[in-house]
Amino acid sequence: MRWMVVGAKGMLGTDLVSKLVDAGHDVMAVDRLEVDITNQASVEHTIENVDVVVNVAAYTAVDEAEENETDAFLVNAVGPQHLARRCKKIGARFVHISTDYVFDGSNSSPYSEDGPVNPAGAYGRTKAAGEWAVRANTDDYIIVRTAWLYGAHGRCFPKTMAALSDKHETLSVVTDEVGQPTWTADLADLILRLVVAEVPSGTYHGTSSGRTNWHSFTKAIMTSLGKDPEMVHETTAAAFNRPAPRPSFSVLGHNQLVAVGVEPIGNWLERWNEAADSVLAEY
Ligand SMILES: NC(=O)c1ccc[n+]([C@@H]2O[C@H](COP(=O)([O-])OP(=O)(O)OC[C@H]3O[C@@H](n4cnc5c(N)ncnc54)[C@H](OP(=O)(O)O)[C@@H]3O)[C@@H](O)[C@H]2O)c1
Repeated sequence: MRWMVVGAKGMLGTDLVSKLVDAGHDVMAVDRLEVDITNQASVEHTIENVDVVVNVAAYTAVDEAEENETDAFLVNAVGPQHLARRCKKIGARFVHISTDYVFDGSNSSPYSEDGPVNPAGAYGRTKAAGEWAVRANTDDYIIVRTAWLYGAHGRCFPKTMAALSDKHETLSVVTDEVGQPTWTADLADLILRLVVAEVPSGTYHGTSSGRTNWHSFTKAIMTSLGKDPEMVHETTAAAFNRPAPRPSFSVLGHNQLVAVGVEPIGNWLERWNEAADSVLAEY
């Protein structure tokens, strides 16, 4: 199977390319230098002779998107439209990555794949538009919503907390945002399994199982570093004045995976314990 990974140098892209190469697939890895997804001609010239295109390119700066929504929309909505149209034209399956930020976070039970979206900020609005652009432009697609990603090859929450813990004796971390920390290597594996299983076109949730909050996750990170988890104190989101709203509840359900016979990613803490050494090797 011939794959193209677009956004291959990002945190998820790096792990996805490794996973596909290790599994023996033929992979073309491209990033902004080879293809600018906001440019239709660039997409048309670059993407051909592939069976599967995975779009992991995105405008991911959540706070900056509040001021630069047009730029974010170009990458997160217009880009996927170009890619979906190109995939339809060349007969390739299109895998597109989306986010929990398409939901407003007001639920108290896990979000279902087919529930209504209601983004609270600019980043979520542009990603929701990207999902619709995919659905409207090809009928051979897999949208995978993920959340709370961490990985060895990018800036992420565990690395930030590890660096802060070297500088401060205590850390104050919010308890009132709940979600599912998800390892990019696990998500890469799920993407591969979805494509190999030839699942029906649709929207799937690619997050770890279970749930936690940032405070408890930070305690697990400190434990992995051999530090005292009691150095992590509780606070609430109200203590931080950030430009973009964060969903307070980001737990995604996995019913669609179960329905098509694809095993969801395991429990967040078990997966973190597996991931910690490689993710915290450099921070
Ligand atoms: N990180 C998270 O916690 C999280 C949570 C939920 C969902 N997601 C989604 O997961 C996916 C992967 O996220 P990530 O954290 O791996 O992202 P990332 O590390 O920010 O990587 C994104 C990649 O896309 C490239 N890119 C940006 N604009 C482009 C363009 N116009 N044309 C081509 N390439 C472009 C970037 O290149 P430059 O570096 O040159 O800009 C970068 O290599 C995204 O769809 C994101 O929305 C992430």
